[in-house]
Amino acid sequence: MDFVILPDAASLAKKAADIVQDQIASSSRVLLALAGGSTPRSVHDQLAIRPIDWSDVTAWVADERWVPPTSEDANQQMIRESITDVVGVRFVAPDTTLTTPAVAATAYGDEIVPLITERDVTSITMLGIGTDGHTASLFPGTTALTVRSLAYVANFVPQLDAWRLTATFRLIAESDMVVFVVSGESKAEVMAGIVAGDDHPAARVEAKQRVLWLLDEPAAAHLT
Ligand code: 6PG
Repeated sequence: MDFVILPDAASLAKKAADIVQDQIASSSRVLLALAGGSTPRSVHDQLAIRPIDWSDVTAWVADERWVPPTSEDANQQMIRESITDVVGVRFVAPDTTLTTPAVAATAYGDEIVPLITERDVTSITMLGIGTDGHTASLFPGTTALTVRSLAYVANFVPQLDAWRLTATFRLIAESDMVVFVVSGESKAEVMAGIVAGDDHPAARVEAKQRVLWLLDEPAAAHLT
């Protein structure tokens, strides 16, 4: 596994933004998957103030909650507020006003799969991780973990009593590069488990070229 440990949350966000900025500068076209959560948001805040040419970038979201698009709980709302509306980058988001989570997930997958499988596109996927080892909305024990297809799926999460929409492992694996951003003491235990080989969903993530884990020191505190 490929780890970089940064002193604190601010330097973690800067490092993640550096990586995305460099990839955009060195690629003709970029497909950038963004994530929900507070750690990913701090990366968006950093990216939003950088002098980046966003004209050949398309953003999408690795997972979404089954709430209206403008809900404060919607990942897409947070992403619009923190980055895509701020910098004016093209953003393809799931339509959570459709009839069911399954219909919305399928429709979104139909948009994203052709984009990520296009030639000459560099795809970078930013992900966070939960204290339970979930990433995107691939929660432990849920049915989406067993889906092998290149797709976006509806995933009922009993532990939240809620529907989520999520990229499958197979879809994430189409990314050239995955960058995990992991901050804070609350993540130290799950990170130690991942390094020790525990089968957390986040540990199963693959990419075509590189899966990079960026941790701050508190999140790395239990690593040996
Ligand atoms: C979500 C996310 C989720 C998140 C992690 C990390 O919809 O909540 O996509 O996977 O990225 O839980 O979130 P924090 O950085 O807030 O802990």
